[in-house]
Amino acid sequence: MVGLGYVGLPLALEFAKAGFRVIGYDVSERVVGLLMAGKSHIQDVSSAELARMVKSGKFEATTDESRLQEMDAVSIAVPTPLAKTRDPDMGYVIAAADAVGRNCRPGVVVVLESTTYPGTTRDLLQPKLEAAGLTVGEDVFLAFSPERVDPGNPIWNTKNTPKIVGGITPACTEVATALYATCLDTMVPVSSTETAEIVKLLENTFRSVNIGLVNEMAIVCDKLVIEAAATKPFGFMKFTPGPGIGGHCIPLDPHYLAWKMRTLNYKTRFIDLASEINSEMPAVVVRKVTQALNEERKAVNGSRILVLGVAYKRDIDDMRESPALDVIRLLEQQGADVAYHDPYVPKFSEDGHEYASVPLTDDEITRADAVVIVTDHSKVDYQRVVQLAKVVVDTRNATAKLAKGKGRIVSLASAGSFANA
Ligand SMILES: NC(=O)c1ccc[n+]([C@@H]2O[C@H](COP(=O)([O-])OP(=O)(O)OC[C@H]3O[C@@H](n4cnc5c(N)ncnc54)[C@H](O)[C@@H]3O)[C@@H](O)[C@H]2O)c1
Repeated sequence: MVGLGYVGLPLALEFAKAGFRVIGYDVSERVVGLLMAGKSHIQDVSSAELARMVKSGKFEATTDESRLQEMDAVSIAVPTPLAKTRDPDMGYVIAAADAVGRNCRPGVVVVLESTTYPGTTRDLLQPKLEAAGLTVGEDVFLAFSPERVDPGNPIWNTKNTPKIVGGITPACTEVATALYATCLDTMVPVSSTETAEIVKLLENTFRSVNIGLVNEMAIVCDKLVIEAAATKPFGFMKFTPGPGIGGHCIPLDPHYLAWKMRTLNYKTRFIDLASEINSEMPAVVVRKVTQALNEERKAVNGSRILVLGVAYKRDIDDMRESPALDVIRLLEQQGADVAYHDPYVPKFSEDGHEYASVPLTDDEITRADAVVIVTDHSKVDYQRVVQLAKVVVDTRNATAKLAKGKGRIVSLASAGSFANA
């Protein structure tokens, strides 16, 4: 397994559980050190299980690239971020492909797991293997298989989520499918690496576009309209509005497709529009805070604002691309004194500024001029927040069913509503 993050580590352990001897190769000394000490850095992987695998010799982590020479099968799960210009940053995939190419030998199957634009496996990986004098489909087998992990999901995990696999040749698909079928429940072979690559982008674009739609609806109508529409038992799928999108997937992946299509002179309008609406949501939240403070005859400038939840979604510790970062930045730009509380994120740094989670004491809640719920972690006692806070801006509908407190609750989809359901 090349890359031992949110995707690579759980998959490595599935292979180890299926009886394979798995070596995880990662460029991070810190990650490898932690894993070899039996400490998991991924919330969905228990340290006890990891330690068992390390002790039994089924799993080993290393920073030594030459260990790839021992492998019969290599899966690559390295980051695929966007550059500042919002173009794909393929640096990690290219570095990993170089390492695999340098250490490959006949008989090996190589599978790329990183989310990417259609054409990556054929255009970037195949030449690296062929530079080693190996013919893909004959000497070595190359495929793309997108990871669908949903961190924190208690039902769907690496093992029971159906797995798409598409090879460069039919033999590549067959070999890669046979490999993954040893440890995953359901395999879905598709016709090519490009098909497998675009399947993943469609899945995440579907989410981005639907979230964009409900976010726009949240601006124009009451949240109960969405609840009412969701009672339709067919032809409607409920998405909930929020403060913006975060994580390593939804905010980034659709841009991989948009970028690829731009190179082919096609403009992906749905992707661009959804991205525009979703990325405006933190500013919508800050407008709600400004309006709420205004009604109290207060300005954002000089107000104490307590942000509840900075991870990008409920009950996880991942802050990548979290909309909370934008909400905090925009509030601070207007002169607010911002504190945050997140039971999963004790501290973080952004733009050279260090932030530390404050304890959620009664004093902290009453001291704030406004409390903004950005992420609705289930560990937080929202009833106490509502009871004590002067103003609560609730972007996640976390307070909908609670008894009213002394302060006002402003929800994302309410003020300026077009319709009241
Ligand atoms: N996190 C998710 O929920 C999720 C879900 C589906 C797909 N994906 C995709 O999977 C891929 C990996 O994402 P992730 O969340 O696991 O990333 P991550 O940042 O958690 O982990 C990536 C790991 O790769 C290592 N790495 C970087 N360059 C390397 C190299 N050249 N050789 C070896 N190791 C290297 C890093 O040190 C890190 O430990 C991305 O393409 C992402 O879009 C992520």
